[in-house]
Amino acid sequence: MQKAFMVVMFAILFFSLSCSPTKQATTMVSQSPYGILPDGRTVTQFTLWNAKGASATLITYGATVTSLVMPDRNGKYADIVLGYDSLGGYIADNAYFGAIVGRYGNRIGKGKFTLDGKSYQLTVNNGENHLHGGTLGFHKVLWEAKVLNDSTEPSVAFTYASKAGDEGYPANVVVTVTYMLTDQNELVVEYAGTTDAPTILNPTHHSYFNLTGDFTKTILDHQLTIDAEGYTPVDAGLITTGKIEDVAGTPMDFRTAKVIGERIDDETEQLRFGKGYDHNWVIRGSHGTVRRAAELYDPSTGRLLTVLTDQPGLQFYSGNFLDGSTGGKGVNYQFRTGLCLEAQCFPDSPNKPQFPSVVLRPGETYQQKTVYHFSTR
Ligand code: GLA
Repeated sequence: MQKAFMVVMFAILFFSLSCSPTKQATTMVSQSPYGILPDGRTVTQFTLWNAKGASATLITYGATVTSLVMPDRNGKYADIVLGYDSLGGYIADNAYFGAIVGRYGNRIGKGKFTLDGKSYQLTVNNGENHLHGGTLGFHKVLWEAKVLNDSTEPSVAFTYASKAGDEGYPANVVVTVTYMLTDQNELVVEYAGTTDAPTILNPTHHSYFNLTGDFTKTILDHQLTIDAEGYTPVDAGLITTGKIEDVAGTPMDFRTAKVIGERIDDETEQLRFGKGYDHNWVIRGSHGTVRRAAELYDPSTGRLLTVLTDQPGLQFYSGNFLDGSTGGKGVNYQFRTGLCLEAQCFPDSPNKPQFPSVVLRPGETYQQKTVYHFSTR
């Protein structure tokens, strides 16, 4: 009888052990001080590790990804995002390396828009236009961070409360961006935003990828697919004209994989305005549904990045403003040595009623989910 009881107890113990989560998310997130801001506040660094040995390092300044280490086809791990060596680099940065940008990712013409009959003037910080949330946008502020202990995958949530009037924007807005690194080598970026008055919100993520892991190389040999039949052409100041044009027969056609360098220097007005690619593509499928938006492949290492998002647009920026004047990770970042794939609503949407709306009202929650999935081929 006693023996039978023991057997049952062992069975229960074995069953409960095998059912309990084997992963401890907290042990896969390390945390350390990263630097001190001029005003004395501490910037914290978090590294997320997955079971495969990939990692993502994040800092509370700008909710920035400072490194992303992924394997190549031979299992060799390398950092595949551009970044600096210390906080000073991020403070001085004007290229938005790895940051969350907002409140409005991308440009708003002359920094002006009208909402519910009221006109607003935002900071003008890019020629005569507003770019990436202004001078002290989301990329230049200190976010609160919280390791999500109840998540089975290593995750950190960053929260920032932006005050009414910041950079000219109306309303108090609270934004939370959660980064999660899964065992499928996905960096999942989820956004949530609320407001206490009508406003606009369109944040994005600004990592510069170079899948070779060798930042002395350009991204021109990478092959890119963008799941889009159309893109939003721009004027000389990179403000969208309001039209959506067909990519067919143009250097904007990435419907099937294209070598980025193949047509980047074609003599077209759009490529001249962008100094290369710096445009927004209209992603196939519906706003609000996570679907594939792009695929980036480096034939030399076999690294493949698939970008999935629920956003209507994707800005592909080919690093045309990199000029060797800034550096980190042992190199100076030269022309086109990194590229960004920024999920977003279309540029200058507040002034283009035909584009998807970026208006956020009290009681609503802004949501975005974008996934950077790494694999090899
Ligand atoms: C964006 C813009 C580019 C440029 C970079 C930052 O992606 O579209 O024009 O401003 O950010 O240098």
